Amino acid sequence: MSTDSLRDQHEHLGRSVTRLITDHAARLDSTPVVSAATPDDLRKLFDEPLPQAGLSADEILDQFARDIAPHAMQVPSPHYFGQFNPTPLAIGVWADALCSYLNQNAGAWRNGPTSAMIESQVLRWLCELIGYGKEAFGVLASGGSEANLIALKCARDRVSPDMCRLGTRAGGADLAVYASEQCHFSVEKSLDILGLGRESLRKIKTDDRFHLNVAALREAIKDDLNAGRRPFCIVGVAGTTSTGVIDPLPELAEIARANDCWFHVDAAYGGALAFSDKHKSKLGGIELANSVTFDPHKWMFVPFSCGATLVRDGGQVLRDSFDMSPEYLSEDRGFADAEYDFFRYGQMGTRRFNSLKLWMCFKFMGKRGYAETTNRHLELTGYLASRLDELDDFERTGEIETAVCCFRYLPGSVRALPVAEQDRVQQGLQQRVEKSGKAFFPSTVLHGRRTLRVNINSYLTERRHVDDLIELLISEGQKLAPETPSP
Ligand SMILES: Cc1ncc(COP(=O)(O)O)c(C=O)c1O
Repeated sequence: MSTDSLRDQHEHLGRSVTRLITDHAARLDSTPVVSAATPDDLRKLFDEPLPQAGLSADEILDQFARDIAPHAMQVPSPHYFGQFNPTPLAIGVWADALCSYLNQNAGAWRNGPTSAMIESQVLRWLCELIGYGKEAFGVLASGGSEANLIALKCARDRVSPDMCRLGTRAGGADLAVYASEQCHFSVEKSLDILGLGRESLRKIKTDDRFHLNVAALREAIKDDLNAGRRPFCIVGVAGTTSTGVIDPLPELAEIARANDCWFHVDAAYGGALAFSDKHKSKLGGIELANSVTFDPHKWMFVPFSCGATLVRDGGQVLRDSFDMSPEYLSEDRGFADAEYDFFRYGQMGTRRFNSLKLWMCFKFMGKRGYAETTNRHLELTGYLASRLDELDDFERTGEIETAVCCFRYLPGSVRALPVAEQDRVQQGLQQRVEKSGKAFFPSTVLHGRRTLRVNINSYLTERRHVDDLIELLISEGQKLAPETPSP
């Protein structure tokens, strides 16, 4: 194929894809958020023999428009109130196309010189944002789960200089990690992957507002020390997955220091509070952490996927854990380019030029743009909470610290039911809303009770969408609640 034909293909596809995206974006407010299709329906749509002869791009895009886009979860919708999944910024979406076009292998400086530079730049911006000093550095990851894994590996490897070489044979049989029972499941999974076992995680109970209970943490550490085990890491969460609350970071930092533990803060979601002068004090103490997880693909509206592990004491900490020098990547090129070989800082080898979309989003929004959106989301969440508080049939659970609001539907007739039945009503309401296609939010379990959970994470969401949600909750709830028996 000639380069002219390649140019023509891009021209044609670019126009067609632009039309698909712009048409879809124009309908976002009215498109059902959730498709009614079952897994079986979708399997039938895609169950085809292995393609033999190729199709035209137009035919393939037609199938995208017909079978894929309408049945996708409409995450970019202003009526989507799901799990920290944002409406992606347009510049981030198109940055992804540019990234794919350049196809840089950002793993090694030689294979992606500008991508390596831009990755280090965005990492420095993230470090500055959370209040780390100049020596701090990091690495981009596929998301919060991988970022937590990278951080926990650094924590594990600090226990012994032989850990990388010998694994837990270097002394890891009785290592213990502490995190709130509300921490993300990736913490437990990471400990399994690192050979420490899931049971090395002590899940510390939370107070009635779902923050890690510091007294219980002290007790757990004392018990482990008495039993001859070695506490080595404390994880605080800034923006828990279920409730969005922030653990008492300064106290956790102090307990970590007193017990010679690595202190990791999982700020995958809540890290973006750092943009806001009004709300950043909620993250106080994060700058004391040895490592921080920060997911730009959550509250920074960067399209999936884009996570980051930030390390207070600099890149050498990551390299001590991850560096290797394969022969084919070990040429001495005479300058400090190995400093920018990101395969030395984390688990990935070949990696996308993922920093491009983050860099473009940072430049497009600026700190002020992000601060405005974060503030607005907190105001909207407060508005939702105040509207629910006015309604007798709803009871809120916990506090609003980020843009997450948890609540239960409890009209008199439901309150009168046994607890398990009340939980089924919550699930029923969540499912009715989902089936209506008019909005989406999930449910969760808090202190053993099924609870509805709304997160505002779209820059398209306005008060009118919150009002629509309240109307929907009321109308679907009324269809669901048993009649209150007349006296
Ligand atoms: C607090 C927290 N940490 C980590 C993660 C994992 O992030 P990811 O899904 O990007 O792997 C999540 C996901 O929601 C989260 O809420």
